[in-house]
This record gives sequence, structure tokens and C-alpha cells, in this order.
Amino acid sequence: MPTLQEQIEESRREALAALEQVGNSEALEEWNIKYLGKKGQLTGLFRGVGALPPDERARAGQAVNTAKQELEEAYTRARERVVERERGQQLQKEAVDVSLPGRPAHAGHLHVITQTSRDILRAFRDMGFQVYEGPEVELDVYNFELLNIPREHPARSMHDTLYVDERLIGLRDESRPPGDTPPMMLRTHTSPNQIRLMRKFPPPIRVVVPGRTYRAEAIDATHEAYFSQIEGLAVDKKVTLADLKGTLATLARALFGPERLVRFRCDYFPYVEPGVDLAIDCIVCSGTGCRACKYTGWLEIMGAGMVHPQVLINGGIDPDEYSGFAFGLGPERIAMLRHAIDDIRLFYSNDLRFLQQF
Ligand code: PHE
Repeated sequence: MPTLQEQIEESRREALAALEQVGNSEALEEWNIKYLGKKGQLTGLFRGVGALPPDERARAGQAVNTAKQELEEAYTRARERVVERERGQQLQKEAVDVSLPGRPAHAGHLHVITQTSRDILRAFRDMGFQVYEGPEVELDVYNFELLNIPREHPARSMHDTLYVDERLIGLRDESRPPGDTPPMMLRTHTSPNQIRLMRKFPPPIRVVVPGRTYRAEAIDATHEAYFSQIEGLAVDKKVTLADLKGTLATLARALFGPERLVRFRCDYFPYVEPGVDLAIDCIVCSGTGCRACKYTGWLEIMGAGMVHPQVLINGGIDPDEYSGFAFGLGPERIAMLRHAIDDIRLFYSNDLRFLQQF
């Protein structure tokens, strides 16, 4: 039977040797439990001290203590070593190969209609026009009434209007007779901004208003329920039809080339007098006649005219002192002509094979 002293020495040596072999934190914890834990070897030896005769206890107790201290210190050093090692392994596992080629980022780009609108706005800015925007949900008074399109006016049927049910947004006016036309709609054109602009800014006015417009159309290759327009308005002293003609001819040449011919013909819109329709000579056949221009030699690109005196009055402007012109054009139509696109539905059907071409 070895003496307690011998057992301590044996335990100490065994523990230190075992600690050398410990390679990770789990093994380290097992080691800790085995030698220094509550039921560990060293603790067991402490108990043996109590069983010794009194004169041996002090020496033996001190020997166990010294061994315990030594093992605790060795444990602390081993833990540092293990932690360090495991951190290194972790880093290696998470290592990033910086020499790998990166994944390409898919850069988006502006929609072809946004590009077209910006080209148009730029041409107008070069002529001194400002850019302004108005609401897409519009009031009947602005969209129709103040533009000389009263209820029952036949021009309303040219605009298949998408009305907004005010009850859904808690705005119903209970005093309005039931069945009466709701006063709110998705704007069918950008022309309501003529009134908004005149009421907001004193002349001289030279503004273009881009934006989305909506109609309850039967959708086909040339009609969409959702499209965009750019409205133009100029009001000043002595503005004439010649100014309108010069402005729009300049735009047509900026968009379609300096050799472009323009044609003005009479047209009817209740809010202009006279009203005109602007066409350019066909960009496909230069006017000799082809399918694109339906063998007329001309492509109609927008409606325009001199602001009706009543509309000036509705805008708070004295028609005896001021005159103005207005026009409205559709970026989709312009883009279709410029890029030979034959179906308006392509713009908003979100097919990347189409969109990525522009
Ligand atoms: N608002 C008209 C349309 O939607 C275009 C237009 C604007 C005509 C301004 C004349 C003056 O077709």
C-alpha cells in the first residue's frame, strides 16, 4: 500500500502527463473533472488527509495543497493553449479565399419609358421649360370640368375613366346625390396640371409635367390602361401659335433628327382653341409611304393648341392680357417610333428579354 505522499506524487505526475495530451476544450473539461472536480482524485486525497494521525496531517495536507495549486496553474495554462488553438481552427474554417473571382452584381438600369421621358424633358429644359409634377388621383374638376369638359360633354366618352370609389378611402360626401359621378378618378391625361400650374404660378409660365395616366381601355397593341404623358404649358404676354409651332418643331428635331418635317393640322380638344395635331414625316420611309405610317407619310405624335380663354380664366389668368399654348404627348408612342416597337403592352409586361434591350 503506497503512502499518501506517494499517492499524491503519483496523482500529480499522472495528471500532468494527461494534461499534455489534452487537445481540445472538451478533453480539458474532462481532465478538470477527473483530477480537480468534486469527486476528482485530488479531492479524494484531501479526504485521506483527515484519516492520518494528527502529527502527519499538516505535512500531508500541505503536500496535497501544493499539488492542487500546481495542477490548477497547469490547467490555466493548458486552457489558454487550447482556446488559442481552437480560435485558430475556427478562423481557418471561416477563411475566405480572396483570390476567388466575385459574383457579378446585377446592375439595373432605367426603364425605356423613363429614358424616353428624360430625353423629352431634357429637350424642353434646353428651351427654358421647368419640370413639375401633379397627382395621379385627380379631382373631376381638374381632370374635366375646368378644362371645358362638363358632365355630359361628348369628349368625356373619349376618356374611359377609372373612377376612385371615395367610400373606400372614407371620403364620401354624403350631400352628393347617390349615383352621381364620383368627384375623384385616376387622371386620364396630364392636362389637369394646366389648371394646377396656372393657379399656382403667375405668368410667365413655361412648364412640362411628366406623369402616369390611366384609362379603362380595351387593351391591344396600341392601347394600354396604364401609360404616361408629358404635358406642356406656356403662358405669357403675346404667346402665339408660331411659338407653339417653333417649340414643337424643335422638340421633334431633337428627338428624331434635324431633318425632320413637321405638320400641323386642325384637331379638337375642348381646352384649346385652335387645337392642332402634330405629325412628323415618317421616320421609316421619310414620307413616301409604308406600313409604319399607314401609307400616309406622316406619324401623329401629339395634340396641342392655344389655351382656351375660358381655361385661362379658370386658371385665374386674364385672357385679355395673356395667352398661352399647351400640348400633350405620350412617351410610349415616342419610344415605339424611335425603337420600332410594335406593341405597347411590351413596356409593362416586365419581360427582361425586352427590357434589357434598352
Ligand atoms: N390631353 C390630350 C390627350 O390626352 C392632349 C392635349 C394636351 C391636347 C394639351 C391639347 C393640349 O390626348
